[in-house]
Amino acid sequence: MTATFAQQSSHSADLLDWFHEMRRSEPVAWDQEFGAWHVFGYPEVTAVLADPGTFSSDLSGLLPPQKDLELFAKGSFVGMDPPRHLKLRRLVSKAFTPRIVAELEPRITQVTRELLDAVRGRSAFDLVADLAYPLPVIVIAELLGVPAADRDRFRGWADGLLGDNRPERLLPDQDHMNAVGATVRDMNDYLLDHIRARRAVPTADLTSTLIAAEVDGERLDDEEIVGFVGLLLIAGHITTTLLLGNTVLTLDADQDATAALRADPTGLPTALEEVLRVRTPFPRLVRLTTADTTVGGRDVPAGQVLNLWLASANRDERQFAEADRFDPTRTPNQHLSFGHGIHFCIGAPLARLEARLATRTLLEDCPEFAVGPDVGLHDARIMTGARSLPVAVTWR
Ligand code: HEM
Repeated sequence: MTATFAQQSSHSADLLDWFHEMRRSEPVAWDQEFGAWHVFGYPEVTAVLADPGTFSSDLSGLLPPQKDLELFAKGSFVGMDPPRHLKLRRLVSKAFTPRIVAELEPRITQVTRELLDAVRGRSAFDLVADLAYPLPVIVIAELLGVPAADRDRFRGWADGLLGDNRPERLLPDQDHMNAVGATVRDMNDYLLDHIRARRAVPTADLTSTLIAAEVDGERLDDEEIVGFVGLLLIAGHITTTLLLGNTVLTLDADQDATAALRADPTGLPTALEEVLRVRTPFPRLVRLTTADTTVGGRDVPAGQVLNLWLASANRDERQFAEADRFDPTRTPNQHLSFGHGIHFCIGAPLARLEARLATRTLLEDCPEFAVGPDVGLHDARIMTGARSLPVAVTWR
């Protein structure tokens, strides 16, 4: 088996084979062709994520210059290191307290019902187009105060930012950067208009809260808020769409688990954690070394890129017994699908709530569902999950 990422296929099963073999033979591997390291093991991935001083999230210095992306990066704290990261993250944390997320429950249930009502009575529908995509995008759009009706545009931005038609290359070339730049420019312009409107007339939405917030006595400027709001808008929906689709794919393949959850929906939160583990929505995070260091006993010089394979760490037998088995009752389940350490996903409580409510409603409303043959899957090197997911259903 080779450490070369460039030769890996876009199919999830092939990638899982690669991870399995690499964890056994070389859990931390240098990939000459890709020009970066791969980290496959659970303890090694967690150790890297726990040390942001040595393993930086700021990769901007590696990318070809692109001014629209640079503007976006000013407030997108996922790509920042301490101490700036913490300052900006504190602001959003205030808006995502457990209480505020819990208060969204009735609205999330209502949106789920409305979306299912729109297809009720049909013998089949597309779970992604009709439920898994619109639900989280409506919720996050309402939180931020942008019109949910513009969601096709948001999807275009997410595809432009997250989809890479050449995943086998470490860094994008100038053409790709220009294409991403055009997408980001459209997003920046749209969000700047929104932010200016809220600055003129504040409302109760999160954008208005961010405008009013102070970090160390300083207000954020409009350009910083763009990256902030953009990050929440994109991170806030596309991953949750994957989780909802992955849940239906997993339940479809395990009728016993589905029957048990229909009989006792209190098992749903535990089962959803296991869906997150076995079908890791974002399979890979990237970090850059700031100093000579060691990872899993390998010497890694300063200035090198590490691919942290969450999807592989989540199946490490050193951490999870029978790691390849979907066990809807698995506890504890310290999977890494929401990351680990200072960048741990700020939206995890919201994603969990949306997934629990949507799945419960689907199980209640549809006594039977079966995934059809024409599932459209993402390239598993970038995202794990469905783009389109036809399901045949019966209605209660
Ligand atoms: C960070 C996954 C849902 C907002 C992260 C990270 C992961 C992740 C792996 C860590 C990134 C890193 O360390 O570089 C997921 C998954 C989700 C989900 C799998 C759904 C199943 C959400 C939602 C929101 C959100 C609903 C917003 C409402 C964020 C933000 C960060 C983040 C803002 C950056 C946090 C920081 O840098 O401190 N997410 N996410 N995510 N996520 Fe999520």
